Parts: sequence; C-alpha cells; structure tokens
Amino acid sequence: MEKTQDYVVCSLELHLFFARIMKEHSFFLKVGFLPPNEDLAGQGERLMRNFEHLLSRAIALSNHVVCQNVLDSGEIVTEFTDLAERQTQRLSGTFIDRRLTARAMQLKGRDCGTDWSAPPMLTRQIQQLNRDGLQFLQRLIAFKEGLLQRIGSCNLFTSNYPLLIEHILREARLYRAHLLRLEGMEDGNKQELRDSELFWNQIMMEHALFIRGLLDPSEDTLIQSADNFAAEYKRLLAASSAANDRIMHSKNALALTEKFRDFKRAGVDGIEKCQIRSIILPLLADHVLREANHYIRLLES
Ligand SMILES: [Fe+2]
Ligand SMILES: [Fe+2]
Repeated sequence: MEKTQDYVVCSLELHLFFARIMKEHSFFLKVGFLPPNEDLAGQGERLMRNFEHLLSRAIALSNHVVCQNVLDSGEIVTEFTDLAERQTQRLSGTFIDRRLTARAMQLKGRDCGTDWSAPPMLTRQIQQLNRDGLQFLQRLIAFKEGLLQRIGSCNLFTSNYPLLIEHILREARLYRAHLLRLEGMEDGNKQELRDSELFWNQIMMEHALFIRGLLDPSEDTLIQSADNFAAEYKRLLAASSAANDRIMHSKNALALTEKFRDFKRAGVDGIEKCQIRSIILPLLADHVLREANHYIRLLES
C-alpha cells in the first residue's frame, strides 16, 4: 500500500512543479521567434496549452494528497508568480491562464508523516496523467531538439540563447526520466537521475550565466554578482567531481543556493517593480526562482 501512496504523491508533486516549468519553456520558446517562424511560434503555443491542461488535471487531483512541505517550498508558485504572469501576458500578448496559479495557491497539503492510502480510482487517474505527460514530453523534447539543430546550422534565429535551449531540454529529459521511473518503464540508462546534485548545480550555474547575459550592460553591480554565482557553482561542480565527501558538498550546495535564491528573489521583485534594466521577462525571473526553491527542498530532504 505504501508503494501506491508514494506513486500517487510523487507523481502529483512532480507534475505540479514540472508541468508548469514545461508550459513556461514552451512560452519562452514561442515568444523568442521572429515573423518568418510563426509556424514554430504556433507549435510553441500548442505545447504550452498541452502542459496547461496537464497542470490543471494535476491540480484537480492534488488537494489534501500532496505534502504540505512541497506546497510551502515555493517551487509550485511564489508570492511573485501571479503578478509575473499578469505583466508577462500584457507585455507578450500571449494569454497565460492565471486561474491555474490561483488554484495552485489554494491547494491544501497533508502532513506526510501521517498514514494515508490512495483510493484505487485516484491511482488509475494518476497513471493516465503520467502517460499523457510522457506523450506531451516526447513532443516538447523533439521540438527542442529540432530547434537546436536548426540554430546550430544557422538556419534559425531566436532571441533564446542556444545554451538556454540545451538547458531546458535537459530539464524536460529529467521530467521524462522521473515519469518513466514512476511508470516502471526505465530503459536502464537514466543518466538524468543518477546525480541530482550535479544536475542542479549545473542548472544553477547556467541560470547565473543567463541572468548576466540578459541584464542590461549598464547594470554593473548585478552583473558582478551573477558572475560570482556562476564562478562559485563552477568551483562546486569541479570540487564535487574530484572528491567524495558528499555531505560537505551538499552543505556547500545548500548554502550557495540559499544565497542565490535570495539574489533571484530580489531580481523578480526588482523586475516586477521596473527597477532593473534587462531583457528578462518577469515570468522568466520567477521561473528560475522556483527552480532554486525546488533544488533547496531536494537538498533539505
Ligand atoms: Fe526551466
Ligand atoms: Fe532552469
């Protein structure tokens, strides 16, 4: 019984975080294209709607099922998400379904130390949700791979960095790897799941690099801070592949990511209040904050 419970709870928590992340990736891709590529923009929007739908179903099944500490972690929504969506919709002209954010904020969690068993009906619904998630992910992953190929041969221009597309491709593959594991469909080659800390340290380093590259060149102080974070994660990555004191590395990763989270939080706030010069959409700033919150929860558990 405990296994069924884990399956249900892990699946829902995974979707609440990652389906939102994937819908935002699709949105960032969509708004990065120029007029000759409106077909790709359309594809990005369709993928975004797929993941909105998936997220909506996950939210509908999550009340009093997922753990309270996950809802409290700031990885599902933050205090900035609603305004970030409102501003980003206005700036981009793309509809963003903010009811999903309102519903996610109203979710009630469970104390996961207590006993609970998943109704059989719910287990079947989760299985369907996971299967649909895998299908949408296949499409999104293929889309991202295709873009990378065309950008690599200079046949496509987008305002998204190539490294950003590689980065969001890796995040999509991690989501897929988790779903395959939950569905017992592993193919034995799940590199994404092998070293979670290595994965997220690299993600955090790349966030620092993206932020520094999307800030206005006049934002000296913020650029300096972003550079420092990138350098510190680089050192951490080098140290953790060289040595094997895992506990010390986790402690260092947690301390650094808490500092980086504070930097990102100040960043979203400053962008929402129009106090920072950049080409960072408010929703992108909130997106990278949620990913830091997710990593901090993993490090703490
Ligand atoms: Fe992401
Ligand atoms: Fe990311």
